[in-house]
Amino acid sequence: MMQAYNIPTAAYKTFSNEQDAKAYVDKTGVPIVIKADGLAAGKGVVVASTAQEANAAIEDFLCNQKFGEASRTIVIEEFLEGEEFSLMAFVNGDAVYPMDISQDHKRAFDGDEGPNTGGMGAYSPVSQISDSVQKRAVYEILKPAAEALVKEGRPYQGILYVGLINTDDGPKVIEFNARFGDPEAQVVLPRLENDLLQVMEDVMNQKPVKLSWKDEACVGVVLASSGYPDTYDKGQELPNLDRIHSNAHVFHAGTKLKQGKWTTNGGRLLLVAAENSSLEKAREQVYEEMKKLNSDHTFYRKDIAQKAFYCKTIS
Ligand code: GLY
Repeated sequence: MMQAYNIPTAAYKTFSNEQDAKAYVDKTGVPIVIKADGLAAGKGVVVASTAQEANAAIEDFLCNQKFGEASRTIVIEEFLEGEEFSLMAFVNGDAVYPMDISQDHKRAFDGDEGPNTGGMGAYSPVSQISDSVQKRAVYEILKPAAEALVKEGRPYQGILYVGLINTDDGPKVIEFNARFGDPEAQVVLPRLENDLLQVMEDVMNQKPVKLSWKDEACVGVVLASSGYPDTYDKGQELPNLDRIHSNAHVFHAGTKLKQGKWTTNGGRLLLVAAENSSLEKAREQVYEEMKKLNSDHTFYRKDIAQKAFYCKTIS
């Protein structure tokens, strides 16, 4: 659909044969992106910086069927270089109401090292992505995508999420989701001044909506089980969450309440988010809270939102 409607995205090819996939990597070179074609809980993407890594991913996905049916076909995609950001919108047909943008941190470890995850933390706003780039993302990508769905006879109602890379040629799509982003929603929605349910009702009832956003910044850090995104234990007791200050938000994900105590029950356990007058202050505040959650069974990234302080704005 993106090709048909000139929506900027990475060049790609799909494969279900190992030899053909490896020959394509050989021809195209690295870095290159290997994706399972189906759903893999945010873990079905390998950004390979060497041919060995690319070939290992091809074998894992196609031959060892790491994600079963979801990796029977793979997509091999051009590696897009640039700053990543996430843009979500309330959509009803061709009516598109973009939210303020955020930036996710998909790699497991500090410095964007380690395997891809569903997202280890996020922040909003993202000042190094200029207003003009955000406008291009809305007018060249988000709106054309919603309009394309109308033209295809499949008008969309709901949250449309687009993951973008701000390349030298402008923003390009890396993914679409038909839902809120996680952890993006946890840092964008606290900044929304409107009543969320009213916005949803108005969008559904085709009433015009004007979204307004707090000036405050919001930073969210994910607490994950040690071992995530690979294997990890469940049922480990978490530090006392009552110690988290009441002005921070705690969003549960992979937790379970057992005899009155919160225990681990998944990879990404919870996210703590803090809002403050500047990104720096929100960051300091959230990490003060995260210190209270240190334990042998969990880990979290220490560098969420740090990029915002050294990245130049690219317009
Ligand atoms: N954080 C990426 C996603 O929600 O898909």
